[in-house]
Amino acid sequence: MMHADVEEVLLSGEEVQARVVELGAQLAADYEGREPVLVSVLKGSIIFLADLVRAMPIPLSIDLMEVSSYGTSTESSGQVRILKDLSTSIEGREVIVVEDIIDTGLTLNYLLRYLHDKGPASIRICCLLDKPARRLAPIEIDYRGFTIADRFVIGYGLDYGERYRNLPYIGVLRPSVYGAAPPA
Ligand code: PRP
Repeated sequence: MMHADVEEVLLSGEEVQARVVELGAQLAADYEGREPVLVSVLKGSIIFLADLVRAMPIPLSIDLMEVSSYGTSTESSGQVRILKDLSTSIEGREVIVVEDIIDTGLTLNYLLRYLHDKGPASIRICCLLDKPARRLAPIEIDYRGFTIADRFVIGYGLDYGERYRNLPYIGVLRPSVYGAAPPA
């Protein structure tokens, strides 16, 4: 059943699951014997991370960070504050950064520099959704679920005002929900 606030289902739960399983299999093959650490960024990415690791039948570990941009809830400012840091050392480790969406790229641009300084053996990026239309900082994405158009999407971890993260699909939010000005 589609939520009343959703204008259109962009990617069904089944489509998302199928792609996540493919990404997991690809990562598992590439990282076999390397015991990667998957670094995910709260909160939106945890749904993707949870499904992704269950599609990766190899030894791995997980760490979580939480960052906050100084912009509004829908627009990144480029200034990032670390609210929760890594809980383990990534020095010499094979790091896979797991993100739900890359939009302007500013969050990841900052985070990558931060993680590089910790001396990992390698860093690669795995994102579920790539929204290249609004990119401000160039990001090299190694594993990409889907490329999407410049629309405000919710569900499967993505929120609007902290709501809708629990929808099992990716949807476009109905404009009447956010009023006259569309969120970025
Ligand atoms: C989202 C997403 C990325 C960031 C991407 O998080 O998880 O971290 O925005 O945007 P950017 O490429 O323009 O920097 P958000 O700040 O919405 O936090 P949340 O995961 O807690 O919802």
